[in-house]
Amino acid sequence: MLFNAILLEKKEVTGFTCSLKNINRQQLLSQQGDTLIQVAYSSINYKDALAITNKSPVVRQWPMVPGIDGVGTVLECASGRYQKGDIVVLNGWGCGETHWGCLSQYAYLKSEWLIPLPDKLTAHQAMTIGTAGYTAGLCVERIFDFGVKPQDGMVLVTGASGGVGSIAVALLAKLGYQVTASTSKIDQAYYLRKLGAVNIIDSQSLKQSGKPLQKEHWSAVVDAVGSHTLANACAQTQYGGIVACCGLVQGMDLPATVAPFILRGVTLAGVDSVMASYDKRVTAWNLLAKHLDEEILSYVGRTITLNECVEVANKMIAGQIKGRFVVDVNKQI
Ligand SMILES: NC(=O)c1ccc[n+]([C@@H]2O[C@H](COP(=O)([O-])OP(=O)(O)OC[C@H]3O[C@@H](n4cnc5c(N)ncnc54)[C@H](OP(=O)(O)O)[C@@H]3O)[C@@H](O)[C@H]2O)c1
Repeated sequence: MLFNAILLEKKEVTGFTCSLKNINRQQLLSQQGDTLIQVAYSSINYKDALAITNKSPVVRQWPMVPGIDGVGTVLECASGRYQKGDIVVLNGWGCGETHWGCLSQYAYLKSEWLIPLPDKLTAHQAMTIGTAGYTAGLCVERIFDFGVKPQDGMVLVTGASGGVGSIAVALLAKLGYQVTASTSKIDQAYYLRKLGAVNIIDSQSLKQSGKPLQKEHWSAVVDAVGSHTLANACAQTQYGGIVACCGLVQGMDLPATVAPFILRGVTLAGVDSVMASYDKRVTAWNLLAKHLDEEILSYVGRTITLNECVEVANKMIAGQIKGRFVVDVNKQI
């Protein structure tokens, strides 16, 4: 069996390369796993973009098949956890970093990493959501569990036109929250309004260094940006509010003071999707499946082929894309 996959290689002579390769079953099964999946769709997340463009040390074993997300059909499952024909979803667990991922027609994975495709979603819709959307779901769950209600005031989403941001805006709006979307793409305001944002702000105002305490605007925040944006978001959060922090596109630094935390009781809540428990995953996915309808998902997602991943990854690193990119791994240009 020969199949297509993106392969990232790093060799002394040729350096880093990213190319579409033919892989055989034996190579794939050299990965540690117990479940062979025929992949239907993968997606491009920011981490995939970093790996594909070699912009950051995401890949820790070479060669590597990228793709932190996948949805596909179980062909063989040695653990017995899934049956042949079951449709399953993978997000994270080090795939595309230390274990071959799903930008490939087949993947060999650990069955405990997988969850069943939620009933209400198609395989394509699951990858429109992907890790970015599932992380938005985890952030919203965190805000929910904290007790923030729609009547408590405006919620802020940063990096709003990106994958995490788009799904967070749409999900929060569906749940009845008033959402302010912070974006660099003010000319794309119509896109964010269609997702349900009631207010759009230019991200430039949040990207600059700001005062430790500012006017209290937000009952809760979903931040995919980090750095000064996260510091300002904390400084603008209402007394007793929560900031769910999941991303670092502006930077990994946090140039903040303790003022919002010790003077306003603001909570900074870290959100990780990669190693989240099975129960947390299923809860977040069920929330997304229940509230994101077909119309929103087809508006947010675009479909590309394996050959188009490098171009999309470069645009994503440059902050030039909006929404989500689903990869049809079985389609050639
Ligand atoms: N914690 C986790 O488990 C987890 C899971 C998934 C993703 N993430 C992280 O979350 C972040 C967003 O992921 P994503 O998939 O949504 O990425 P994405 O689709 O590329 O979206 C990021 C958005 O952030 C804004 N942005 C881009 N570059 C920026 C910069 N230099 N400064 C300020 N804003 C910038 C842009 O939105 P606007 O133009 O609208 O401002 C962009 O569309 C990434 O850092 C990713 O690694 C973390």
